[in-house]
Amino acid sequence: MRFSLFLTAGILAPIAVLAAPASYDGSLYRRENLCNLKTPPVTCQPNSSVTVEETAQRAYKFYRAFVVDGDPRTMFSLIDSVYKQNTPGYASGPNTIWPLFCNGRKIGTEQNTAWCFDATTNMSYARYSTTDRWRWVDGCVHEHWDQGEKIPSQDKCYKLPANGTTT
Ligand SMILES: *[C@@H]1O[C@H](CO)[C@@H](O)[C@H](O)[C@H]1NC(C)=O
Ligand SMILES: *[C@@H]1O[C@H](CO)[C@@H](O)[C@H](O)[C@H]1NC(C)=O
Ligand SMILES: *[C@@H]1O[C@H](CO)[C@@H](O)[C@H](O)[C@H]1NC(C)=O
Repeated sequence: MRFSLFLTAGILAPIAVLAAPASYDGSLYRRENLCNLKTPPVTCQPNSSVTVEETAQRAYKFYRAFVVDGDPRTMFSLIDSVYKQNTPGYASGPNTIWPLFCNGRKIGTEQNTAWCFDATTNMSYARYSTTDRWRWVDGCVHEHWDQGEKIPSQDKCYKLPANGTTT
């Protein structure tokens, strides 16, 4: 399954490059393969002024980059330097997981996956073949869990303004 997704991305990527206008447009950006870099090009700088609404927007952006778009640059720009792992056998820190995501592989669509930001806990969730949970601190993804997680019911999830779904 993973292998076939990988192959598909490999076939489509050059087509996207050819079809893209000269400018650095969104579709090209999303298909970036950054595996030539040993570490993420940019990570998140904690900022205590980031509001709850901005955090919810960022949580949606993170879900899009991670699951739907396969956009490692945007994904890691929202992860701080700590990225504490709670999965046995995984060391903490963004550099540890960079090799898993640097190739910009998509893992789902908005239709077959789900996300949630619970403002009462500052946790965000993404459900695809598994469910991940992240704690946000000062506007950045700071901590991660993926053992027996469950996405909260819709009434617990932050409602973004309608235009939030396109940013
Ligand atoms: C911190 O976040 C606030 C609120 O979004 C923003 O106005 C400010 O520019 C940010 N500061 C830095 C250094 O990015
Ligand atoms: C969630 O984060 C906000 C800042 O974005 C902070 O004011 C609030 O205390 C945090 N809530 C919890 C439960 O940690
Ligand atoms: C989305 O809507 C909010 C609230 O109406 C507004 O403040 C914000 O500027 C809008 N964002 C975009 C990208 O249009």
